[in-house]
Amino acid sequence: MIRPRKAVERLKKYRPPQEGRGGKMRLDFNENTVGCPPEVVRALRRALNPEMLTRYPEYDESREILSRYFGVDPGQMLLANGTDDAIKMICDSFVDPDDTLLLPAPTFPVYEFFHSVAGGQVIRVRYDQNFHLPVEELLAALKKGVRWMAIANPNNPTGTVIAQPDLKTLLEAAPNTLILVDEAYYDFSGETVLPWIGKYPNLVVTRTFSKAFGLAALRLGCMFAHPEVAEALHRAQNPFAVNSLALLGAQFAIQHEDYVRKLAENVRTNRARFCEWLDHMGIPYVPSRANFVLTRVGERAPEIARCLRDKKILVRDWSYDPHLKGYLRFTIGSTAQLRSLVKELESLQHLIELHQSPKPWGNMASFDQTGWFA
Ligand SMILES: Cc1ncc(COP(=O)(O)O)c(C=O)c1O
Repeated sequence: MIRPRKAVERLKKYRPPQEGRGGKMRLDFNENTVGCPPEVVRALRRALNPEMLTRYPEYDESREILSRYFGVDPGQMLLANGTDDAIKMICDSFVDPDDTLLLPAPTFPVYEFFHSVAGGQVIRVRYDQNFHLPVEELLAALKKGVRWMAIANPNNPTGTVIAQPDLKTLLEAAPNTLILVDEAYYDFSGETVLPWIGKYPNLVVTRTFSKAFGLAALRLGCMFAHPEVAEALHRAQNPFAVNSLALLGAQFAIQHEDYVRKLAENVRTNRARFCEWLDHMGIPYVPSRANFVLTRVGERAPEIARCLRDKKILVRDWSYDPHLKGYLRFTIGSTAQLRSLVKELESLQHLIELHQSPKPWGNMASFDQTGWFA
């Protein structure tokens, strides 16, 4: 057998995300659980014809339209096959074997995944027990010569945000470290550092059409950076990574931004309702700025997730991570979905550890790469 690269041999076997999710209540992947603006589906149907499918994708016009939407110059923006692809692009252009990636832990595992494929090393700084990111520790780690750092803001799975003054401190402390601020959940948090790309040449920002816009299947992400960094990212990019339908879908979707804003507002309202219910029940949770909430339901978390699955409600069990035993993450969707979820959770009360000790987050900590990507 021909052996793969050493970095690939070292990777853990890929565990694909759960399949067969169609037709169930999908509260497990932080998707838009309601749907994209219906007009986007109609417009895509109208645009779909054999002639358009025969042509390789063309990017200039879409880049123009989307960069205008995001308020940047076309030269500061790259199109990617989802944020995942944008992360891979960073590794392809900037990571040599043994380069270091600095990560908060726990966080979205794809940063570590592509960095490991490139043969890099990882330094992790854990959230403290109150789910604050220890900025002093990050600053100390940056001094060790870090090639790049990734911060999901809001973070997945915690839903927490890093304060903008702290981000500024990090960007200014490490001008030679590329700092990715992944704003996949921006539409729910409303916080962005996108306007900073003109000021900080070491800053890269990503946005996605997979979450609030409800187009996860099409795969479209946008990456923003200083033009010279953007040019370096573009140089190593797969030339036709983004498909024509994704571009069309996004262009139609931004014409119906009001629908998306309303949907995000609804999610925020339901998130607050869910947290009120958790408070009332005495189930600890992390205050979230995203479209999901991380809770600690106790040692029987896997069983609770299984019971919910039997009722066709999918939620994300983090117990496979030794530091997140007992944690479930719930995506927040419509009011009707929330009602069903709460009803089922109430019927599973006997499995939930309620009114726990004042330190419910005692074992909160790191993350190990597992191959689960959402
Ligand atoms: C923080 C974060 N970034 C990016 C993604 C994936 O985005 P995309 O669908 O654009 O690849 C996710 C998906 O769960 C995520 O949680």
